Amino acid sequence: MNDILDKKIIEDKTGRILTIEIYDELDSTNNKMKEYIYSGKRDVDLIIADSQTAGRGRMGRTFDSPSGHGIYMSMLIKSDMKSENALLITSAAAVAVVRAVRKLTGVEAVIKWVNDIYIGKRKVCGILAEAVSCGGKGMDVVLGIGINVTSSGDMFSENVRGIASSLYFSGKYDINMVSRNEIIAEVVNEFNLICSNIEKREFIGDYRKYSNVIGKEIKFLKDNEWISGKAVDIDDDGGLMVDTCDGRVLLNTGEISLRLQ
Ligand code: BTN
Repeated sequence: MNDILDKKIIEDKTGRILTIEIYDELDSTNNKMKEYIYSGKRDVDLIIADSQTAGRGRMGRTFDSPSGHGIYMSMLIKSDMKSENALLITSAAAVAVVRAVRKLTGVEAVIKWVNDIYIGKRKVCGILAEAVSCGGKGMDVVLGIGINVTSSGDMFSENVRGIASSLYFSGKYDINMVSRNEIIAEVVNEFNLICSNIEKREFIGDYRKYSNVIGKEIKFLKDNEWISGKAVDIDDDGGLMVDTCDGRVLLNTGEISLRLQ
């Protein structure tokens, strides 16, 4: 299949509602979008790169972004979204990715709280939302999504080789099934659908349904100490409820570790 990133296909499949820029290579699509915002340019909705030289993940990590093998995209979410709803953006994006992947490929992607997408034991997608102040007019959010489509082996840095995979190497997705353009458009459409009534939090039902964490023994970091507990539910704001030996705690953000069977 010809899997060249194509602006027209994405425009057509998203109903021409977005201003889209596509690059062969960027340091990071999030960086590019943030540069635009800082310079007062807020008319580009979606930036996509075929490769990134300095793709960034959460907690200062890198995100491997080899050319032609993944989706590296950043959406601008303008400050007109209420702040309490802005907190839901990453959970909404996770649900949008899972719905898009399941619909287009049949692959049973799941969400590892807070916003990593896994297939089985391996991570295939990460989400990095960054708030950017736009000069007294509130905050914009740059929503970065990275999906490993066909990346494998030494395309991943050594430190993630044991846990990273891609749609193709999950063994359930065939490269001729669906192009990166179609996946990008579907993620955007699913995300916009959720955002059209995000305050109702209807998507949280799918966030729970597709969680690979609820009911599992997990560990989370508190004051530099790993605490063990059982993840029991996700609340309507996307927070993770964990039963520990000291009682129930609610995690709103952060990192958890779980053993996947
Ligand atoms: C994570 O796994 O912690 C989040 C990874 C987010 C990667 C995407 S790729 C597009 C956008 N640009 C970046 O530099 N990062 C995000």
